[in-house]
Amino acid sequence: MMGRAIEPAVRNSWYLAGWSHEIDDGIVGRTVLGDDLVLFRDADGQAAVLEDRCCHRGAPLTEGDLVPSGIQCGYHGLVFDRTGACVEIPREEPNPAFSVRAYPVVERQHGIWVWMGEAGLADESLIVDFPYPETDDHDFFYDRYDISANYMFMIDNLMDLTHLGYVHRTTIGGFPDSHNKATLTATRTERGAHFLRWLIDAPAPPSFVDAAGFEGNIDRWSDFEYVSPATVLQWGGALDTGTGAQENRHQDGGVSFRLLHSATPVTDRTCHYFFAVSARGVKLDTPEGRSLRQDILDAFLEDKAIIEAQQRAVDKDPERPLLFRKHDEAVAYARQAIHQLQDAQGEGAVTSEAAE
Ligand code: FES
Ligand SMILES: [Fe+2]
Repeated sequence: MMGRAIEPAVRNSWYLAGWSHEIDDGIVGRTVLGDDLVLFRDADGQAAVLEDRCCHRGAPLTEGDLVPSGIQCGYHGLVFDRTGACVEIPREEPNPAFSVRAYPVVERQHGIWVWMGEAGLADESLIVDFPYPETDDHDFFYDRYDISANYMFMIDNLMDLTHLGYVHRTTIGGFPDSHNKATLTATRTERGAHFLRWLIDAPAPPSFVDAAGFEGNIDRWSDFEYVSPATVLQWGGALDTGTGAQENRHQDGGVSFRLLHSATPVTDRTCHYFFAVSARGVKLDTPEGRSLRQDILDAFLEDKAIIEAQQRAVDKDPERPLLFRKHDEAVAYARQAIHQLQDAQGEGAVTSEAAE
């Protein structure tokens, strides 16, 4: 089976544009699907996403300031509220014809989700539900890497964990042989793909030994769900082998993780890779928590490096198809799902305008 490498982005969808804490500190500029955006929190505490271009003379609003009535352009002082309406023009009455594009935005579960398509189609129920951050025994960190690769290369990476034994040999992965013995159950879901993967009686990778003090082999699970267009929800963890992990993953001991990954397209060949990560019972302000966080950040840099190298290699001949082997079922389902979404939206709602 073969498939194309570079996927265009789908416009009529929600994308993670930032984390809540980023706009707590002021104005953030971000590019999503080729659109330059300004993200901010207004005086009422509401998240806002506007085009990053003042309607007056075209200056970027990211060069402006937050004021009580909205965001003030740093060039001649026009002020826009979160709906994009111009609410102040110095020395003049506000002009109703002056406005900037406001994108539908929902702040939920520490994420700023923006709808990049036709505003009338924005349906909040389509936003990925990620409730775990609200519970006590998971202490999350929220971060982002900017990746010079098509967003679906990030999704492919997450939906094929055989890379752990190679890319993450010295961090979260460990031993290629054990990864190649994993069992995988992959299914197509309504909006994407799901897989459950087990490594039974496998050596514990270095990061797991550090986090949970494993002394012998482990049973390790990876439970991943891709929700098109760009998000992957992950449960993962391990218990000492022989303790019945497959019957009960939730018993005490071992280690378990909860993650959200979202690869927001910037151009056809760049994306923002957002991730939220926690381990059960590990507080981030402890030495174990700091070490775990660093291990994960290091591991994700390993992903970034290989995916960017992949993009550079593919770009020598981007039309040349990629192959799926037997174990790529989950990757193939994910690609099917994005194609289905592209087809459903038709031309115009699928953009490759962001191509360099
Ligand atoms: S360009 Fe923004 S106020 Fe003039
Ligand atoms: Fe990885």
